[in-house]
Order: sequence, then C-alpha cells, then structure tokens
Amino acid sequence: MAPAEAVAHAGEEDGPALATQAPPPSHPSHVYPLGSRLNEAGHLEIGGCDVLELAREFGTPAYVYAEDHIRARAAAYREAFAARTDRFEILYASKAFPHVAANRILSAEGLSCDVASGGELYMALRGGFAPERIYLHGNNKSEAELRYAVDQGVGHIVVDSFDELDRLERIAPGQAILLRVTPGIEPATHAYISTGQEDSKFGIGLDELPRAIERCQGLELRGLHAHLGSQIFDLEPFGKLAEVLTAMGDFPLLNLGGGLGIAYTSDQQPPSIDEYVEVLLEGAPEGVTVLCEPGRSLVGNAGVTLYTVGTVKEIPGVRTYVAVDGGMSDNPRPMLYGAHYEADIADRMGGERVCAVAGKHCESGDVLIGGVALDDPCPGDVLVTPVTGAYAHTMASNYNALPRPPIVFCRDGDARLVTRRETYEDLALRDLV
Ligand code: LLP
Repeated sequence: MAPAEAVAHAGEEDGPALATQAPPPSHPSHVYPLGSRLNEAGHLEIGGCDVLELAREFGTPAYVYAEDHIRARAAAYREAFAARTDRFEILYASKAFPHVAANRILSAEGLSCDVASGGELYMALRGGFAPERIYLHGNNKSEAELRYAVDQGVGHIVVDSFDELDRLERIAPGQAILLRVTPGIEPATHAYISTGQEDSKFGIGLDELPRAIERCQGLELRGLHAHLGSQIFDLEPFGKLAEVLTAMGDFPLLNLGGGLGIAYTSDQQPPSIDEYVEVLLEGAPEGVTVLCEPGRSLVGNAGVTLYTVGTVKEIPGVRTYVAVDGGMSDNPRPMLYGAHYEADIADRMGGERVCAVAGKHCESGDVLIGGVALDDPCPGDVLVTPVTGAYAHTMASNYNALPRPPIVFCRDGDARLVTRRETYEDLALRDLV
C-alpha cells in the first residue's frame, strides 16, 4: 500500500498547545482502502461510492470492499518478486476472505491459492483458480478432503503429519507434496495466531523432519513449507525462517507462509510488501522457487463495515456507549484477540467525543471498540469500522440469530452486491422440522 497517498490525521496531536479543537480531517486515515476520500459533501467515499448511499441502498450492517485495493496489493506482491527473481509463486491464503468474487479477482491477477479445507477448495475452484495452482493445507485433513483434492487435480498437498503421509500415500501414490515444518521460531504476535513455535498442533518438528523426508518415497516431495503466524510486523523472523528451511535440504520449492501485518489503527506502520519480499528472498538460496501465502495483507485494508448507530448511552463520569446494529457476530476479532479498531461517523469523520462502540448481542463483552473519538454520534448515524476485509466475514456467525451482512464490491463509483444479506428464512433453512 502507499500510505502516503492517504495521510492520516496523525500529526494533529503534536500541534501547538493552544489549539483547543482539532480541525476535521481532510482525508481518511491510511487504514482505509486505497482511493478512499471525503467527497464534496464531506461523506466518506470507498471505491468511488458514497458510503451513506451504500448504507441506504444495501442496508446495515454491510461489508464494503474497494476492489481496486485488492488488485493493487496483488500487483505490489507481483512487482516486488518480479523485480528480484523469476522463480516465485504468490498464493492467496483464501481463509482471510474465502469469497468467489475475491477469488476471481486474485486468480485473474495471476495468483495461486492456499486452501485450508475442502470448502475453501470448492470456493477457490468456483473463483477460477486452476487446480494445479492450488495448495491444500490443514493439520487434520479428512480422507474425504484429500480425495476431493486429488480428484480435482490439486497441484500440491501440504502434508502436516506422519499420519497424513500414510493416508495420502494410500489414496494418491505419487502425489506432489510439500512437508509442513514447525520451525521453532516465535514471532511477536497474539498467541492464538502464532504457529511457528515448537509447541504447535501444526507441522512436523525440525528433529522429526529427516525421518518424515525419508517416509515420502511413495509421494513426490517438492519442498518444505512453514507459516510463522499472522499479523507480524518484525521481518527478522521471516529471514531466519528461510535460513532454517534451507538448511534442511535441497528442494525445488520453499514456501515461507503468510503473516505480513497490516495497520488496523492510524498509528501503525507495518513494513511494505517490498520490504517483506526482500527479506524472504534474501534468506533463500539461488535456484529455489520461493512461495509466500499472504491473506490479511491482500484483503484486510480493502474492506470496511458499515453499521447504523441505534442508541447512545452516556453514563456520566464513566463512559458513553454507542450501540450499533451488528457486533461480535460480524466481527469476533475484538473478543477473540483483543484486536483494536478505529471508527468514524461516515459524514463527520474524526471528532472529540470518546465513546465505546458496542454491538447488539446479549453479552457485555460484545464491544467492538473500547474507546474511539467520534463526532457527536447520534441514532441514525452510519458508523464505519475500517480494516474488516480479512477474517471478519469468514469468521462471522449467526449468534442471537442475526442474519449475516451482505458484501458489496465498489469500483469507480459502481457498487455490486456480491453476497446478499441473510434473511430470517435463511436462518431456519437447514432445520429439519
Ligand atoms: N498460510 C497459512 C498456513 C496460514 O495458516 C495462514 C493463516 C496464512 C498463510 C495467512 O496468514 P496472513 O497472511 O493472513 O497473516 N483469524 C485470525 C488469523 C488466523 C490466521 C490463520 N492462518 C485473525 O483474525 O487474526
């Protein structure tokens, strides 16, 4: 991303001490999708579409994506690799947003695909990824999932365990595979999304790896794979990973996983894609094809969620709760990982009144944002939370029987509905009574 294109209202706090009121921002912060802006009416625009009009047309809550942001991020990966080597493959880690429309964009952008289940494989195929460019992951793939992948001609299966080696050799002798390695490297990130450490359910430990490599005779071992974790800002562990895997043997393919972090709040400045790719390639030997599997860093900042404010409850001296029409069912990340988000009122960006943004679920913990400065929120306002493009829709639930939100893709001022809102009828559709 080019954060410079959309300068945050960061410097404001450093202004002269006499300044009592910050001016309203003239531009949305760099956490919003590329090309976001405030239009003449002072409304937030995503992908050229006025967010208030989107809320009117599609209702709230709604996930809204700027399609071109996804394209730009894919291009940034492509260009970063192509500037340095011919031997690379970029896999979209589709778990971040396993959607047919997103998969169509990313397959057309020339990416390959990482799927973590039979369901993600189905979505990848529907999204136009050629089977031979798909990699199937998972620490406990079922026999049915393995058979489905083999029948579809999936290019590589990333084998996670000795049990799976046995299973796959029986089902598909000669299948091309990578071995997933637990490299014993711990990046700085939330424990739930850290996977490189020795004590992990994923992969084969370094000590066991030589034995696993020997056990691959009935299959075609094409390389090693490791994934350190997600939302990582420090690039050093990635360089170390490339070195550790390289030391384990000579293979045509080296898959260094995903994990590049993104900015969720305006004060965060993650490394660029170019810097990240530089580090991956630095640690890899000449002649090897380097693979990486970005998820969040392709789609995270591309999406925002629109809500409508329903109630504003001020507890004098304690807190002001701004309650919106969604919550933990459309974005469980604050509750799961303590993830921080920002928010704005779509036609009055910025503001001074510090509020908690609460969801509508029957849990006190259903708070999307503990404290964010808003411009005097009122019932009926459209509130936007940026950076919900990854791991929001895909982890959404129907808790409290809330229908899941629609997804709208915006580009050059055109908005297309790519997932319709669930209905009450949908909620009962699979109940056999
Ligand atoms: N490759 C593998 C094998 C993975 O397990 C993952 C993510 C990725 C690639 C993509 O990682 P990314 O580039 O998106 O960081 N639900 C959590 C994130 C879980 C990540 C799981 N694996 C969250 O909302 O933060």
